[in-house]
Amino acid sequence: MDFIIVDNYEEMSKSAAAIFVENVNKKPDTVLGLATGSTPERFYELLINEYKENNVSFENVTSFNLDEYVGISPKNSQSYHYYMNEKLFNHINLPSEQAHLPEGKTDHLQEACEEYEQKINTAGGIDLQLLGIGLNGHIGFNEPGTSFDQETHVVDLAPSTREANARFFDSIDEVPTKAITMGIKTIMQSKQIVLLISGEKKADCLYQLVNDPVSEDFPASILNQHPNVTIIADKAAASKINK
Ligand code: F6R
Repeated sequence: MDFIIVDNYEEMSKSAAAIFVENVNKKPDTVLGLATGSTPERFYELLINEYKENNVSFENVTSFNLDEYVGISPKNSQSYHYYMNEKLFNHINLPSEQAHLPEGKTDHLQEACEEYEQKINTAGGIDLQLLGIGLNGHIGFNEPGTSFDQETHVVDLAPSTREANARFFDSIDEVPTKAITMGIKTIMQSKQIVLLISGEKKADCLYQLVNDPVSEDFPASILNQHPNVTIIADKAAASKINK
């Protein structure tokens, strides 16, 4: 794993945006893996700025998001579809038919998972995957205990994850109990991975990622076995590691 340690959240976001812009410029039909959550919000703003300044075009890019809640329609403002439209897709020239998220509002969840995995394969796999990390080590919505062999699948969200995400909802009761997520196997097949981590709250999490043995109890630990991972951390998140 390579480490880029920067002063703060803004620098983390800039550093990630530079990597993504460079990759898309080198390979205009790059297949991107994208994440939601608080961590990449500024990163997406910076990508939009780069697009508006004609420094990058997303016309030939294909994207696949890591996850989506089950039971929430794409039009619902709490959905990850909505998040991606608001934070990125509505502001760049990525054609909507090339931007994919798992379909969480369906009676055929199993088929939706299989189709998603197939679409990723048909696109040639993910070239560059963006990841955030949950306090319990989850990546995507792969909670502790998820098998490393899982492809896209339906998960029960851990109580701690529902609590962490309740800030986006009116109350915790509204936070869905299930989600569809790319599996660890799907994520590990990405050719390159960039993980963003920011803030003192995540310092223990980064410590565990770096020092603990690879184990399904801490899903992100598998990244130690990927040949091309860059962790971009701000000083606060990196305060417990020696890098
Ligand atoms: C979101 C995702 C999650 C988040 C993680 C961190 O698509 O896959 O794994 O990256 O929950 O979320 P934030 O950035 O809100 O701390």
